[in-house]
Amino acid sequence: MNISNGVAMIIWVGIFLNLLLILALVYFIYDIFRLFTNAEFRQCPPYVPSFGRQKDIIIERTSALLADSSKQMQVLDPGCGTGTLLIKLAKKFPEHRFVGIEWRKTTAAIARLRTRKIKNIEIIQDDMFNQSFSNFNIIICFLMQPLMARFGEKLKQDCKPGTIVFSNSFYIPDEEPAEKIETDGVYKFKDVYVYRY
Ligand SMILES: C[S@@+](CC[C@H](N)C(=O)[O-])C[C@H]1O[C@@H](n2cnc3c(N)ncnc32)[C@H](O)[C@@H]1O
Repeated sequence: MNISNGVAMIIWVGIFLNLLLILALVYFIYDIFRLFTNAEFRQCPPYVPSFGRQKDIIIERTSALLADSSKQMQVLDPGCGTGTLLIKLAKKFPEHRFVGIEWRKTTAAIARLRTRKIKNIEIIQDDMFNQSFSNFNIIICFLMQPLMARFGEKLKQDCKPGTIVFSNSFYIPDEEPAEKIETDGVYKFKDVYVYRY
């Protein structure tokens, strides 16, 4: 390959990467737009991966429970996004089983792609309200306040005794958490709420 061909190739790769970036940005703006214009969509929290101290707390607390258990535990992330929390935990604990439910098709596809080699993770593309939570010992989630009342009802209905729920930033209305772990996070993204069933 001569130099001018090499330069042309670099330019084309650059153009391709920029197009991908623009596409991602357009998709993100479209998502935000739908949040304002579509009532059903407003009930569905946008994709934002867990971050900061709350993420660490959920990983640490879940890890402690998993490390302590001699029997196989079932961990669910309803609204798993691209699998941020599940991947970290599943790699650390191959003896336990992890399930993510993700409503958005593209996000679920990315989660599947990221987890394709991790045997103990299953990603289900569906509305979490169509799936049962009754087989799980631990539920970890990062949703959005408007969804929490309905989510709380589902937990009450589905969870078997002993199930522990860690909710990043958002609380179940009218339900006293077993514990509220405070952090100095930003805006509403602050505390971790623990519920026991
Ligand atoms: C804030 S993100 C959290 C992602 C991940 N749990 C984490 O902590 O990194 C919330 C995710 O929940 C998904 N979601 C919202 N409503 C849902 C529903 N009813 N069923 C399944 N997934 C849902 C959204 O598509 C989004 O990807």
